[in-house]
Amino acid sequence: MTEARSDEALRTQIAAELDRTRRRSSVLTEAVDDGDLVQQHSPLMSPLVWDLAHIGNQEELWLVRDVGGREPVRSDIDELYDAFRHPRKDRPQLPLLGPGEARRYVSTVRDKVFDVLDGVPLEGQPLLDSGFAFGMILQHEQQHDETMLATHQLRVGAPVLHAPAPPPAPAGQSFPPEILVPAGEFTMGTSTEPWALDNERPAHAVQVDGFWIDTTPVSNAAYAAFVEAGGYDDQRWWSAEGWAHRVEAGLRAPSSWQHDNGQWWRTRFGAVEPVPPDEPVQHVCWYEAEAYARWAGKRLPTEAEWEKAARHDPATGRSRRFPWGDDDPTPEHANLGQRHLQPAPVGSYPDGASPLGVRQLIGDVWEWTSTGFHGYPGFAAFPYREYSEVFFSPTYKVLRGGSWATDKLACRGTFRNWDYPIRRQIFSGFRTARDAVPGEGEGGGA
Ligand SMILES: [Fe+2]
Repeated sequence: MTEARSDEALRTQIAAELDRTRRRSSVLTEAVDDGDLVQQHSPLMSPLVWDLAHIGNQEELWLVRDVGGREPVRSDIDELYDAFRHPRKDRPQLPLLGPGEARRYVSTVRDKVFDVLDGVPLEGQPLLDSGFAFGMILQHEQQHDETMLATHQLRVGAPVLHAPAPPPAPAGQSFPPEILVPAGEFTMGTSTEPWALDNERPAHAVQVDGFWIDTTPVSNAAYAAFVEAGGYDDQRWWSAEGWAHRVEAGLRAPSSWQHDNGQWWRTRFGAVEPVPPDEPVQHVCWYEAEAYARWAGKRLPTEAEWEKAARHDPATGRSRRFPWGDDDPTPEHANLGQRHLQPAPVGSYPDGASPLGVRQLIGDVWEWTSTGFHGYPGFAAFPYREYSEVFFSPTYKVLRGGSWATDKLACRGTFRNWDYPIRRQIFSGFRTARDAVPGEGEGGGA
């Protein structure tokens, strides 16, 4: 979506993305049998069959009924699939559509959506300009696909998902452990990205003091050093809330890690394997990230720092769509879209580096920032308050950059994710930052 396209090209692109996205949803829901689909694998997650029908229901509400002006397919089930009405833990008790019904439902809705796509104007009103409503629904399905992957990770049983490991990081390269981002203003957010969501808008200038940021996300080896140094037993590194949660939840290491025979092991989609030392750590909550950073003598980056590191081009003064430029992601840029079932080793994807040389900002792991979820100056809820605005609260911490499980459609330099600071079933990691000392971050930096 880099430029205005012909109407026909846009329709063709939307149709292709609808197909590609549905293939992904199918892989995730056909990998297990019907019993597994209706079962709740964790109280933190919905049964997979709920996600599937909810994807169809949102698509029906927005594209069939609202955009298309068509008769409802199943208005009787709206309430069941309203995420605000039923917390995840309660969803298995609802009279949900069974697997066969859910599949028929999403496919009936999809047929109608292709019909709507054929006839509806893709301009003239904000919901339809550049196909926004279709882009929003595509991103919604991709986001639920990532959620379903988190459910698969929590599911107990033999592995059912398979993908090749990411390639090793290029041999013989060297890069500094942290990068100086000089002080100055940059443009945060976007007013031009056609499928950007309301919380990414509008573009606005932000002054950021000079800071250092880790070149790569924090690795498993670095995180294991914190664990082995007694980081989970030393209250000094934890905030009061973080320590209370650590104690109450009994946190001892990242989710799924176990120490056995002098070595760390993890369970990944049903397979038990040694924890790879050079992979970015994942499945850590915000409190754990905060404690690690304090132990390391650093802190989490603010959201503005993260975005400046990812998008600001000091040579031109403008903000890029992605760290590498304005082109859509390719497999050379970033580990996205479930091509692999894990993050790539730190130091991978030199072609995806930012102008200042910061790596792996997009893909691999969602990165916790220190910032609470809020609206940008000039924020306007669109197309509905429940998309973002009702979540604006310091209680939710912003995560940036997407993970290996995030599709390229639902990930860009401006994209904002948010979650509770205790969450760790998501594919979350982090990198650390520190203030530049006076002189370092001024006048163009080192
Ligand atoms: Fe949803």
